[in-house]
Amino acid sequence: MKNRPIFYKKKEELKNVKLSALSVGIPENLIRKKPLRFPTLAENEVARHYTYLSTLNHGVDSGFYPLGSCTMKYNFKILEKIAGNESFSNIYPFSSEEDIQGLLEILYRTDKSLSEIFGYAHFTFQPAAGSHGEHTGLLIIRAFHKDNGESDRDVVLIPDTAHGTNPASAVLAGYKVRKIPTNDQGNLDLEFLKKEVSNYKVAALMLTNPSTLGLFETQILEIAEIVHDAGGLLYYDGANANALMGIIRPGDMGFDVCHLNLHKTFGTPHGGGGPGSGPVGVKDFLVPFLPNPLVKMDDGMYVLDSSSKKSIGKVHGFYGNINVVIKAFVFIIMYGRDGLKHVSQQAIINANYLQEKLKDVYKLAYNRRCMHEFVLSAAKLKKDFGISALDIAKRLIDYGIHPPTIYFPQIVSESMMMEPTESESKEELDDFIQIMTDIRAEIETNPEILHDAPITRVVGRLDEAKAVKEPKLTALD
Ligand SMILES: Cc1ncc(COP(=O)(O)O)c(C=O)c1O
Repeated sequence: MKNRPIFYKKKEELKNVKLSALSVGIPENLIRKKPLRFPTLAENEVARHYTYLSTLNHGVDSGFYPLGSCTMKYNFKILEKIAGNESFSNIYPFSSEEDIQGLLEILYRTDKSLSEIFGYAHFTFQPAAGSHGEHTGLLIIRAFHKDNGESDRDVVLIPDTAHGTNPASAVLAGYKVRKIPTNDQGNLDLEFLKKEVSNYKVAALMLTNPSTLGLFETQILEIAEIVHDAGGLLYYDGANANALMGIIRPGDMGFDVCHLNLHKTFGTPHGGGGPGSGPVGVKDFLVPFLPNPLVKMDDGMYVLDSSSKKSIGKVHGFYGNINVVIKAFVFIIMYGRDGLKHVSQQAIINANYLQEKLKDVYKLAYNRRCMHEFVLSAAKLKKDFGISALDIAKRLIDYGIHPPTIYFPQIVSESMMMEPTESESKEELDDFIQIMTDIRAEIETNPEILHDAPITRVVGRLDEAKAVKEPKLTALD
């Protein structure tokens, strides 16, 4: 046989075989004429190269990450390990209820725990992000008003400090938005609120407490009364829940609907590019409007109950992003009732420690005891030395610190919002205070370095305006 593969040749035939590809049946025109050009690197060189590249990115595992409003706490690796277990990751979405009793039990018990911690009757786990939770919550509010024959309630009130997703969610849910200003103590302007509830057919007020200024809204009971008396509902943006677990419940403050960011408060990083989970909790009277199905217990079995005819329907396939829910479940069990309270207390203490130490170095936006985060302003530094919040944020990168959130909340000029979280030690916080103090000195002695920063990283100051106007989204662009 002419092109018989080499392993079919008899032993004596092999002596004369010229080891060309032809002898194993590869056509001549496909045979490589020159040796392949492999990079001539040893394995250790390659390993070192990629290990070095992996150090160029900043993460919570590599350093302090006080990105306000994002709650970039350190999340325990064991949570990933448990959620990644095959018993969870291999679950077939169409499995029968009998086959996934374990998973349904986790959803059921997480619902019970969150309901107890935050003061609600039930949570749905379908929303995949905080913003998705907001939208879902507003659809529930809309369905409730419609059911009451009040479809004409078409306005949602939102404070001027709110996260941008709040008005976006309200508009997507079909509402008009009216902005409520903040007074000079950092609270909602009550007189303005009173006028707005009488001027418009208000469906709801959306609020986060503590606000995005990191301040506890002390008038919350009065606010709830004003909105409820006008027939509106209260929506709680629970993205700041890390400040109040085990201390106070939004359900008791008068909020009828609430979303949580499990991917902040409960064991999954925010902004990690991975899946999120924004469960929505409601008071008893709104339970019929929750997305179907709800996990319930029936005759000793966990079941998926889709019986509510008033439900707004599904907002996500199957059970939502359950690996994030599993991490939250383990997080809650690990900490327990007292531990969760301690998490929030520690987050508040850390933020107040930083605020106290930095308030004479930089200017505080509101000179009040803060909750889990606080806002500094670089407006005066900009006026006196031409140094903006952006310059300070970029200089922090040189010191190995992730920048704080800047330019939000928008009502504070040149704002820098800092959230240390409960994860950081006093040594870490003291280091940060020293770095912020050193940068403050540089502002006067060497402002150029702040304009050029970062100068110690492989990537320097980027032209962010150009990046927006001329995005290069693929390597080929
Ligand atoms: C106060 C507040 N509300 C809502 C959201 C929206 O959450 P998500 O990013 O999961 O959509 C955020 C996110 O950072 C937030 O800080």
